[in-house]
Amino acid sequence: MVAASAPLDRNSAYCNLLQCTDFAETCVVAERQGRVIGWVSAYRPPSAPDRIFVWQVAVDASARGEGLALRMLDALIARPAVAGATSLTTTITEGNAASWGLFGAFARRCNAELTKAPRFEREAHFGGAHDTEWEARIAPLPTH
Ligand SMILES: CC(C)(COP(=O)(O)OP(=O)(O)OC[C@H]1O[C@@H](n2cnc3c(N)ncnc32)[C@H](O)[C@@H]1OP(=O)(O)O)[C@@H](O)C(=O)NCCC(=O)NCCS
Repeated sequence: MVAASAPLDRNSAYCNLLQCTDFAETCVVAERQGRVIGWVSAYRPPSAPDRIFVWQVAVDASARGEGLALRMLDALIARPAVAGATSLTTTITEGNAASWGLFGAFARRCNAELTKAPRFEREAHFGGAHDTEWEARIAPLPTH
């Protein structure tokens, strides 16, 4: 699913397997008729346990525009494993309109503020090989 969801980084199968085993409590899968159509990978950063960090969100092309991504984020923050998190962070490249649209909509849905700041920069961190990843921070999260 991730590989079919440009512009997401494909990472490796090994990385995806670690996400859905070691981080299963903070990852979400959506299925329709036995087929996976949605995926969110996320974790509680050990250095910032008051946050939930969302790594990737992917919805199968056949299921886009139905509110599934928003529902998966809702389900994520309602998980017991996310209890106590007061903010959600993610990183987004400037040109990823779908991602800004999604997280902007999610912030509005939570009645929260979305702030952004550069996190990993094109030259300093990627040697010019990858666009700057902006950290988007949504806070405060609703309490469950
Ligand atoms: C981005 C993606 C996850 C959205 O999934 P989805 O289930 O269609 O999203 P939803 O229907 O829940 O829409 C949520 C919000 O995002 C906005 N949005 C979705 N796709 C968008 C796009 N291509 N451009 C701008 N905004 C978009 C919607 O308008 C909606 O906001 P609204 O409620 O204010 O109208 C899906 O298009 C996808 O998998 N894209 C490829 C991977 C990717 O870019 N992931 C980015 C997140 S890391």
